[in-house]
Amino acid sequence: MAKKISRRNFFNQSFGFGAGALFFNKLPVFKASPSGRTPMMIVAHTNETGKKASETGWKILADGGSALDAVEKTANIIELDAEGMSVGYGGLPNEDGVVQLDASIMDGKTYSAGSVACIENIKTPCSVARVVMERTDHVMLVGKDALEFAKTWGFEENNLLTEKARKIWVQWRERVSDRDDWGPPEHLKKKKNEEAGSNNDFDFDRPAGTTNVLAIDKNGDIAGVTTTSGLAFKIPGRVGDSPIIGAGLYVDNEIGAAAATGRGEDVIKSCASYYMVMRMKEDRTPQQACDDAVNMIAAKYKAINSDFLPGETFRAINKKGECGCARMRSDQKAVMSLINEGGYQLYEGKLHFYRERRRR
Ligand code: GLY
Repeated sequence: MAKKISRRNFFNQSFGFGAGALFFNKLPVFKASPSGRTPMMIVAHTNETGKKASETGWKILADGGSALDAVEKTANIIELDAEGMSVGYGGLPNEDGVVQLDASIMDGKTYSAGSVACIENIKTPCSVARVVMERTDHVMLVGKDALEFAKTWGFEENNLLTEKARKIWVQWRERVSDRDDWGPPEHLKKKKNEEAGSNNDFDFDRPAGTTNVLAIDKNGDIAGVTTTSGLAFKIPGRVGDSPIIGAGLYVDNEIGAAAATGRGEDVIKSCASYYMVMRMKEDRTPQQACDDAVNMIAAKYKAINSDFLPGETFRAINKKGECGCARMRSDQKAVMSLINEGGYQLYEGKLHFYRERRRR
């Protein structure tokens, strides 16, 4: 019989979460200059792929290309990386072992947006989102119909489940006896369990990695992409924040752009990206806008379950080329890739509510 382990330990064992192995490499982290420069681009990923992607996007921006092309091509590199387990090809699957992707793109210059949700078998969902944006009068397509749409436009179908992801999914199936997303919302679970006298361990981390790419081009136009395979082992059909304009991504050409990674349910409820852009409209810096979003969400939960804090990371840029990043409830630094004329560096923002990760 399969050995039962706590969910938290399962994720720590499977993903090396305690070592921060999923997203962060060993590059040194620099505090970026607070002064803004344009053109510029930020990328959520900070590993080698994130660096390579940033440099690809930067070449487009430096050559006078559009922010829209830069964010799409940058995100494509992360989507196509089979080793990355939270975005595109190679992403961790849903509960049934099927990889379902969410992605959005927004172009500030034309005030246009496109997205796809729960799309299967397409390695570069943000490019499908771009076609939705540019070649339809709609913003969002979902599921099988999004796939059919992509095929109509010549996107190739592929199995997105890599051997590495399949093995982790099988391990999860074997070793985790109960289903993670059935039952009340996570922020209400602990209380209900306590009331029911249950010893279930709900204090675990679910990989919900994603990438954000935000850029300003030489003309001062702004664009963004958010793309993800979503919460690992989610209930089939679950849609996170990434394809929802205003939640996982928002761009306003006159103000700036903002995007989110992490637990999508909270980002949807708080319309966090729209909120951050509106904060910047009120002259908050991108860093302050990200901090405001963290604090706004934390305050909401405080009254309901003071033990609960979701885990999100917010990123923002403004028209001047300044940027910000804030992470909540983590033992990981709030870092992201930043590239401009000064070259590539890791920008360190603010970590709110540091939480020691318990080791096995
Ligand atoms: N932020 C990604 C997701 O929740 O699906």
